[in-house]
Amino acid sequence: MARYQPGREQAIERMIDLIAARCDGRAPRVLDVGGGTGTLCSRLLARFPESEVTLVDLDPVMLAIARASLPSSVEVVRADLRDPGWAALLPYGGYDAVLAIMALHYLPPDRLTALYAELVGLVRAGGFVANVDDMPEGEAAASVSDDGSWGAWWAQVAADPVLGPAVVERARLFGDSSSAEWHPPAEWHLRAVKAGPVDEAAVAWRNGDQAAVVAFRPR
Ligand SMILES: C[S@@+](CC[C@H](N)C(=O)[O-])C[C@H]1O[C@@H](n2cnc3c(N)ncnc32)[C@H](O)[C@@H]1O
Repeated sequence: MARYQPGREQAIERMIDLIAARCDGRAPRVLDVGGGTGTLCSRLLARFPESEVTLVDLDPVMLAIARASLPSSVEVVRADLRDPGWAALLPYGGYDAVLAIMALHYLPPDRLTALYAELVGLVRAGGFVANVDDMPEGEAAASVSDDGSWGAWWAQVAADPVLGPAVVERARLFGDSSSAEWHPPAEWHLRAVKAGPVDEAAVAWRNGDQAAVVAFRPR
């Protein structure tokens, strides 16, 4: 992670500090979209043990690891962010923070624009949506995610007797789309998220190409 997401820890720390500042001592309710194996959820619980945390993902491999490694207090939800009806599967209607860490670049522009509105709609008054991802300055970049080590990790998972069947299911769900990536600049994200009911949106953190766009709902 540190090699291809050099600012990851810093970004997570910044997001957690923002939650602490907005919740002012109260245990936060947080949604982690495209949460993968649940590393952000673990970090949230370490900082706010009483927090109500929901993780959403579609990948059966990620979900299996998340369910096995996170405490049962975390709601782990299988949902497809490509489906406009995904939020109906959530256990709560309002969150203090909705976070996406390196998770939304699989979505095409139209769907991501619509998703921003859906994410803002899930936030309580005074809360925020944050998207941390590669947001290079200048032109949008398209890329394919596999630097060799990622492929090797997946080969090991496919050979695992417990997770192997989930890899087959994953291929059925995603086809080739899980490797297609699209990285518009932060300006694009700001425009998209500002179409919703937010009173402020800004780049709250940057480290090279990685940035965090944060949009606050009015208090
Ligand atoms: C690069 S991983 C990041 C995971 C996690 N946020 C982290 O930082 O460790 C991207 C995640 O997005 C999830 N994802 C991709 N497309 C999705 C979709 N259509 N619906 C739900 N989750 C999706 C993947 O399954 C994967 O877990």
